[in-house]
Amino acid sequence: DSTPLDELIASHAVEIPDFPEPGVVFRDLTPVFADGPAFRRTVEGLAAPSLGDPRAAALAPSGTGGTGYDVVVGVEARGFLLAAAVALDAGVGVVPVRKAGKLPRERLSADYTLEYGTATLEVHTDSITPGQRVLLVDDVLATGGTLAASVQLVEALGGVVVAVSVVIELVDLGGRQRLAPHAVHALWTT
Ligand code: PRP
Ligand code: ADE
Repeated sequence: DSTPLDELIASHAVEIPDFPEPGVVFRDLTPVFADGPAFRRTVEGLAAPSLGDPRAAALAPSGTGGTGYDVVVGVEARGFLLAAAVALDAGVGVVPVRKAGKLPRERLSADYTLEYGTATLEVHTDSITPGQRVLLVDDVLATGGTLAASVQLVEALGGVVVAVSVVIELVDLGGRQRLAPHAVHALWTT
């Protein structure tokens, strides 16, 4: 299929006004994940950020002899669907950042605010080793609260976030600025 990836995502995503609360336009990506070819191209796109950013210059498509990152970190829950597939494509492992109360061993926590609420994220303290290069993956970048908290957790463990890959960036909500100076790779910006 020669359809550009952003068009492919845009044609599968569904907009739901006033979900989960009034004023929020929810972007549902489940139809992208449910379509085999669209899911494959999405995963490959997330795995191989083509960033015009020198900090991400080491990133190269998987299968070309180096990914530029040592591990993929995915954010519960929708990020999990993507992060495991990205890690498999890239030939590296996957580490979960989970909502509070799910991880059984020594963990770090970060409270945060997202577009429609507040929550706490956690990571096992031994899941990232100092100096490890991390690709952070999630489905939607809205206000950036979720991914900023995830960056904070990874960096507190000594991890180096080489890029943040998302399927959709909701530009008006300012997530990219919030995550600066980290490089953000979005497959569809809207
Ligand atoms: C959604 C989405 C991102 C986050 C983005 O997750 O998957 O993780 O919100 O919003 P932000 O940029 O304003 O922080 P949600 O907390 O709804 O959880 P889910 O993945 O369990 O559905
Ligand atoms: N997470 C935060 N804001 C969102 C939105 N507008 N659509 C889907 N997921 C979201």
